[in-house]
Amino acid sequence: LVLISKAFRHNFIIPDFQNFCKYIEEFYWKCKSNTEGKVASYIPQLARMNPDYWGVSVCTIDGQRFSIGDVTVPFTLQSCTKPLTYGIALEQLGQEVVHGYVGQEPSGRNFNELVLDYNKKPHNPMINAGAILICSLLKTLVKSELTLAEKFDYTMDYFKRLAGGEYLGFNNSVFLSERESADRNYALGFYMRENKCYPEKTNLKECMDFYFQCCAMEANCESMSVMAATLANGGICPITEEKVLKPDSIRDVLSLMHSCGMYDYSGQFAFKVGLPAKSGVCGGMLVVIPNTMGICCWSPPLDHMGNSCRGVQFCEELVRVFNFHRY
Ligand code: DON
Repeated sequence: LVLISKAFRHNFIIPDFQNFCKYIEEFYWKCKSNTEGKVASYIPQLARMNPDYWGVSVCTIDGQRFSIGDVTVPFTLQSCTKPLTYGIALEQLGQEVVHGYVGQEPSGRNFNELVLDYNKKPHNPMINAGAILICSLLKTLVKSELTLAEKFDYTMDYFKRLAGGEYLGFNNSVFLSERESADRNYALGFYMRENKCYPEKTNLKECMDFYFQCCAMEANCESMSVMAATLANGGICPITEEKVLKPDSIRDVLSLMHSCGMYDYSGQFAFKVGLPAKSGVCGGMLVVIPNTMGICCWSPPLDHMGNSCRGVQFCEELVRVFNFHRY
């Protein structure tokens, strides 16, 4: 109803959405011919991904939608869950508690490097160490009476509400495979235990399983664009109008996506594109244009930093034509 009345009054956030979509289509086809990059190969389930997959979905904060390409094919969220679990932790525990355990600085190192900051905390929630720590906060401090199985449902339900009830799944073979080839993540987990990073009573095995399960959760471009739009809309899902996260939590999530969301390319991405984003090893990219729209780009071939080649190119094309750069 809100959408229809806005349409009559011509006061959408993107007034000429049809024309905007023509540009999105043009960028899409331009990026499709980019055949650079390599699909992640650290587990066979990801190595088998078709490098030709390429999809882009857009969802504005007033619910206008556009999708092109492979937008209903499921892919695992991987590191795209890091800002989402961080958002849930902020929502439930508040900024002060959460940042008593994890920092806000870009690490300047690889996403899985065995390193802590000068306070012996993981640098930020967007790298593996920080995300494992956030999983321990969610598992140990948020509704601590819940079993791991219930905690999984609780988190899935949160993600689903961020996605307005659209597709969210779980890829069990990716989960099992991740867990089997996780020497570095286990090393990070134990290193943080040695340095007393976790809340008391943390069960490290459960915390690691929860981290691998989050990596193996699935979405598609369409549902992920709704998640991005919820982040763009101060935490209110534009499809269901449900308040999923508080504006304060969103501000913190977007700040750290802006400074730390794109691995070692975060500084350059913030400079060139100027938008909060988070990439994952499966080739997904959550891109947020605050107070305007959410975008999901998905294409498995990654550059040497671990970001989707087509996804990064798409964002660069977008801000070349539209004035979305924050500054
Ligand atoms: O935990 C890992 O290393 C993999 N599941 C990759 C996660 C990812 O996307 C990289 N993130 N920063």
